[in-house]
Amino acid sequence: MVEFALPANSKVGQGKSHPAPASAKRAKEFRIYRWSPDDGQKPRMDSYTIDLDQCGPMVLDALIKIKNEVDSTLTFRRSCREGICGSCAMNIDGTNTLACLKPIDEVKDAVRINPLPHMPVVKDLVPDLSQAYAQLRSIEPWMQADTPPPPDAERRQSPDERAELDGMWECILCFCCTTSCPSYWWNGDRYLGPAVLLAAYRWIADSRDEATGARLDALEDPFKLYRCHTIMNCTETCPKGLNPAKAIGKIKQLLVERQV
Ligand code: SF4
Ligand code: SF4
Ligand code: FES
Repeated sequence: MVEFALPANSKVGQGKSHPAPASAKRAKEFRIYRWSPDDGQKPRMDSYTIDLDQCGPMVLDALIKIKNEVDSTLTFRRSCREGICGSCAMNIDGTNTLACLKPIDEVKDAVRINPLPHMPVVKDLVPDLSQAYAQLRSIEPWMQADTPPPPDAERRQSPDERAELDGMWECILCFCCTTSCPSYWWNGDRYLGPAVLLAAYRWIADSRDEATGARLDALEDPFKLYRCHTIMNCTETCPKGLNPAKAIGKIKQLLVERQV
């Protein structure tokens, strides 16, 4: 697993410490990034020590326990707790991942938890993903076809055509990959980043979609696509085991092929 520097949050002071209950048999410390736009304070790392014998196995279980029993002001996103919604993406022990899929026992010492790197922070562990969602909208992630569907029937695909979409439809838009990508850190206002480019290729590769030419035209841009330098952080960090770097490579290949 790659470990990422967190330059956006690097000036973080030590905050409050919440010790374990006296009865704790298996104490574990969690150091959690805290920042609120409402109190005028600088970012800090608060420490919470809880009893793992009284907690579920995943980092998200610990966050929920801390919020419910120790500090209700702690703010984070979560919904499905099944690795499906993508909302609990954060940086745990130096790696972008999903809190609901990250076993606490995989972290040897104190569990360090930060928001996804290089995104503005709304509060605590909640990143502002507005830019990433605007970029997703810009690639028009829906099927486009002028040919009407067959009367009273769906648009059909062969098993092979459908298989082309494997490794892409599974993306849950958690943006762990995008926020691990150094090219996105430095050029995120113009480079689309791996999650959005994977989504773009998902529609380019769909046999039912008829906008392939226009989609490729829109991506043929020195910044939107070509800022990818195949560093591979994205693929290494994806908690769903997907390969956005490969999808980006396929888009580049199609752009080359249509020139010859
Ligand atoms: S392969 Fe491309 S998209 Fe993935 S981390 Fe590297 S530069 Fe970013
Ligand atoms: S490719 Fe993986 S890391 Fe990137 S948004 Fe999709 S599921 Fe998350
Ligand atoms: S809570 Fe939905 S992916 Fe973690």
